[in-house]
Amino acid sequence: MKRIGVLTGGGDAAGMNAAIRSVVRTGWTAGVEMIGIQRGWLGLAEGDAAPLASGSVSGIIQRGGTILRTLRYPAFATDEGTAPVAKSLKKLKLDGLVVIGGDGSFRGGDKLEREFNLPVVGVPATIDNDIPGTDISIGFDTALNIAIDAVDKIRDTATSHGRIFVIEVMGREYGLLAAHVAVATGAEEALLPEFPFDLDAVCRRIEAGYDRGKKHALIIVAEGAGKASYITYEIKNRLQRQVRMVVLGHVQRGGSPSGYDRNLASRLGYHATELLLQGKHGMMVGIQANRLTTSALRKRTKISIAPVERAAELQRALA
Ligand code: F6P
Repeated sequence: MKRIGVLTGGGDAAGMNAAIRSVVRTGWTAGVEMIGIQRGWLGLAEGDAAPLASGSVSGIIQRGGTILRTLRYPAFATDEGTAPVAKSLKKLKLDGLVVIGGDGSFRGGDKLEREFNLPVVGVPATIDNDIPGTDISIGFDTALNIAIDAVDKIRDTATSHGRIFVIEVMGREYGLLAAHVAVATGAEEALLPEFPFDLDAVCRRIEAGYDRGKKHALIIVAEGAGKASYITYEIKNRLQRQVRMVVLGHVQRGGSPSGYDRNLASRLGYHATELLLQGKHGMMVGIQANRLTTSALRKRTKISIAPVERAAELQRALA
C-alpha cells in the first residue's frame, strides 16, 4: 500500500477529527502517503483531495466537526453520480480508502469495493448510534452529554415555574439517543419511535406526578417519534398547564468531543488503517464488549435488534 485516502461522510459527529488524526498517523508511521478527501463522495468525484502529513493533523483531536468537511451525496448511488468518481480514482491512484461515517457512507464504500476494486474499511461515526456491528459509534457519547447538560438546565427553569417541557432529541428514526438522555436526566417520560405511546396515558401519569408533589415534568421526545410541536400542543390542550417546547437540534452535533469519543475514535481509526495495511478490507471496524471487531460492509441490515432492545431496557429503567 502506497497511498491511502480518508474521507468523512453523512452528518458530522464529534470525534471525526480524532479518527482522521489516528488514521493519518497510523498510515504515516507505516510510510504510506495519506490523502485527505474533502466533502465526502462529492469531493472524491471532483478530485478535491490533498496529502495529509503527520503534522497536518496536529491539534485537531479536541476539535468538533470534521477538518475534511462532509456532505450527504445520494447521487453516488446512481450511475451518473458514480461516473466522475471512477475518473477521479484513476487520477488519485489510491490503494485503499478509510470511510468515516454512517450506514449511507458504508453503502458507498461497498460500491467502491465491488465496482472499482478499491479496498475500503469503514469507521462508524454518527450521533444516532444506529449502526449494526458496533455497540457504539463515534459522536454518540458527546451528543448524549450535550443533551444531558441542556436538559439539566431546562430542569432548573421547569421546576421554578412548575412547567412541563417537551424536549426533542435527534436520532433520525431511532430512539436510542433519546432513551439514554431520558434515563440520564431522570425525565418523567421518553417517547421513542420503537414503541407506540398513548398521549392520554402520558398526561394521566404527568398529572398523577403533580398530585404526588412533583414540581415539573420533563418529556424527552426522539425526533422520529413525532413532531414535538404537535405533542406540545396536544398535552397543553389536555392538561391546561403551561407546556414549553425545546428542540435541541444541531447543538447535539457540535462541540469538543468527550474523552470517551476521543479514545474510541483513536482506537477505531488505528484499527481500520492497520487492517488496510494488512490487506484486509470490505469491512467496518467496531467495538463490541470493549473489543475491537469487524463486520462486513456488504449487505448491511438497516438495524440490528440490539439498539431496540437497549432502548426498551432503558425505557423500563425510567419507571
Ligand atoms: O444522522 C445524524 C443526524 O443528526 C440525525 O440525528 C438527524 O436526523 C439528521 O442527522 C439531521 O440531518 P441534517 O444535518 O442533514 O439536517
